[in-house]
Amino acid sequence: MRASELSLVALLLGAQAKQNAFTNLEGDDADSILGPDKDGKYWIYGTGISAGFVPYGASISNFLINDKHGIERDIVTGFDNATYYTLDKQHAHFGGVPGRYANRIRNSTFEIDGVEYNILPNDNPTDGYPDGVDTLHGGPNGWDWRNFTVVAHTNNSITFSIFDPDGEQGFPGDVVSYITYTLNGMNWDFTMVALPTTKKTPVMLTSHAYWNLDGFANTETNLALNHTVHAPYSTDRIGVDSILIPTGEILANEEGSVNDFWSAPKQVGADFESENILGNCGEGCIGYDNCYTVTRDEGNLLNWRESGYVLRLHSAWSGIRLDVYSDQEAVQLYSCNFQDGTTPLKKTQGLIDEPDFPRTIPKYGCVVVEVQEWIDGINHPEWGREEKQFFEPGGRPYVLQGSYRFSVDEDE
Ligand SMILES: *[C@@H]1O[C@H](CO)[C@@H](O)[C@H](O)[C@H]1NC(C)=O
Ligand SMILES: *[C@@H]1O[C@H](CO)[C@@H](O)[C@H](O)[C@H]1NC(C)=O
Ligand SMILES: *[C@@H]1O[C@H](CO)[C@@H](O)[C@H](O)[C@H]1NC(C)=O
Ligand SMILES: *[C@@H]1O[C@H](CO)[C@@H](O)[C@H](O)[C@H]1NC(C)=O
Ligand SMILES: *[C@@H]1O[C@H](CO)[C@@H](O)[C@H](O)[C@H]1NC(C)=O
Repeated sequence: MRASELSLVALLLGAQAKQNAFTNLEGDDADSILGPDKDGKYWIYGTGISAGFVPYGASISNFLINDKHGIERDIVTGFDNATYYTLDKQHAHFGGVPGRYANRIRNSTFEIDGVEYNILPNDNPTDGYPDGVDTLHGGPNGWDWRNFTVVAHTNNSITFSIFDPDGEQGFPGDVVSYITYTLNGMNWDFTMVALPTTKKTPVMLTSHAYWNLDGFANTETNLALNHTVHAPYSTDRIGVDSILIPTGEILANEEGSVNDFWSAPKQVGADFESENILGNCGEGCIGYDNCYTVTRDEGNLLNWRESGYVLRLHSAWSGIRLDVYSDQEAVQLYSCNFQDGTTPLKKTQGLIDEPDFPRTIPKYGCVVVEVQEWIDGINHPEWGREEKQFFEPGGRPYVLQGSYRFSVDEDE
């Protein structure tokens, strides 16, 4: 590890420790909410925003913000209590951190220095391969199936850690990781660090928050298809086959095509009548589950905090706008194609006073925006992503930084 990188990690972890020490000083007289509430959730506070988290998957469970009418909305999917995260059978990766390698790994295999590793499959089962033919989000016991440890919690910040041992899910070597979420003003900032300590291994993380910027309370539609997306740097996408495994091709998002979210803001559902949307998210699938590359020059990449959002998500109904900033070079957009209307809303969502209003998450009821590395880059050396996806003891740490920045339209 170079000195500069070492100091980055020290800085990230040190800053956290300092913040924690500061809070502890105040801890005695603050009527402390620094710990889980009765539902097992840990809360942090910004300016006009607050967020709840659970150790399971280091997941965000609630994100509260007032809409343009001043009504509080909870705009992420999740469950009412921490216990239910471990009981839920569908496991839609609500709000968690998939790891140690997010998204899909072709054939559940990869190679490091001439050695082939076979990891546990859990995606696209067939008769011959009942467990699946590829690995999604780190395997059947990936990070977002496990309880992280809360190592620090202040009024505006929480840090989770996980130790992922050698051989777990078939991955080589021990990995220790720290996930820090902080609310600063109207921003939700996050830093994810992972360090392999014994062997070279792939690492790729992301935040898997599901958004419905109307808090599922939109009386015109409970879908998210009227949310607008703008991804100005995403002129290309990673080509995938019928089961969403990258083929190696990088495809242009032609202007005016269903995958054009770069030339101008566009509603998620705007092209759902187009014949080209069928199969866009896998065989027979209508919608989005696509990895768009984020093409910025080196200066804009290094200066990611100032050089503009990677993706903007906005709902005119609530007036809530989310600008996603990140140092990552890809962003996956998923339009909740696999939701089937069986998952209940939280008590903080929907319209409690109207018994006939739907209280489940419908298909296309949410949007997931995952900032990450180029998916399955470990199986595509031709892309040259090795340095950003393989990590070894004594080398650079894995670092992901991002910022979800919120604003709200003026009420007309
Ligand atoms: C945390 O911040 C919230 C919102 O600003 C405030 O109401 C609360 O008193 C703070 N709690 C502590 C323990 O400082
Ligand atoms: C926990 O949340 C689940 C899902 O929302 C709900 O069915 C259950 O009743 C809750 N349990 C408690 C003890 O609140
Ligand atoms: C994870 O945390 C949940 C909620 O606190 C708890 O119900 C569950 O037993 C924990 N699971 C493990 C494996 O510790
Ligand atoms: C898939 O992985 C297995 C090892 O698990 C290997 O034998 C097989 O050749 C691989 N298939 C492809 C198409 O890469
Ligand atoms: C909402 O989306 C639907 C389907 O994409 C479209 O027909 C309709 O015009 C949109 N409504 C608004 C208010 O933008």
